[in-house]
Amino acid sequence: MQQKKYTIIANWKMYFSHKQALSYLENNKTALQQLATKSNIIICPSFESLATCKHVCTNLPIVIGAQDCSAHDLGPFTGQVCAQSLKELGCNYCLIGHSETYEHWNNDKETILSKLSLAIRHAIEPILCFGENQEEHEKQKTEQSITQQITDFCTTLKKYAIQKALFAYEPKWAIGSGRVPALHDLEKNLSLVKKITHEYAIDARLLYGGSISSQNIVALKSIALLDGFLLGKVSTDFQELKKVVSLLYE
Ligand code: PGA
Repeated sequence: MQQKKYTIIANWKMYFSHKQALSYLENNKTALQQLATKSNIIICPSFESLATCKHVCTNLPIVIGAQDCSAHDLGPFTGQVCAQSLKELGCNYCLIGHSETYEHWNNDKETILSKLSLAIRHAIEPILCFGENQEEHEKQKTEQSITQQITDFCTTLKKYAIQKALFAYEPKWAIGSGRVPALHDLEKNLSLVKKITHEYAIDARLLYGGSISSQNIVALKSIALLDGFLLGKVSTDFQELKKVVSLLYE
């Protein structure tokens, strides 16, 4: 049987300064290239480092993605970065709806869906982040929350006749907490996403993200529905990233 080619997304958040992001890439270029022989590697640096990271990765099988984009097109929006610029800088992907954009920047559903529309209109492939929050998790409202978020995404995708998309399940309570969902819950929730996206005739590639480490990746890879992983903190330590990715292929 052919080995699965996982998609690995390194979300560097704001863990690195511009110079630190560049040294990471420069120091690990060859090793990253090695990792990319088996996986699709997408690195998401902060906005200010996108262009230089893209430049360093020219001729490498490493793809660059943005962590967010503005909900607006060009206009009077101080401090924002529009999808058009991301495309012009060579970003192929953009995270849409990451939980930290809700939590710290008060993004609401309309804002997130507007970002999604703009990414699509500027030919950037969205990485659709979704997941229940702590309260929904505790009150057993996970299914309801996921159904709503996926339905909203699918409705927008359909508007643009998109037939294929990346969905990253990131329970908000699992991000940065050291906790991951029980495997049977993960499987159940991913199956729900498959079911909804199927109803919209969207071919969903499913990722998981939230507190992934070399300690839990072997268990997580046992879930056949998963096509890849979204790594936060662990991706900022190259040796750890390498360990996580290597364990996927053992
Ligand atoms: P974490 O972050 O791996 O640090 O939990 C994942 C994410 O937020 O994408």
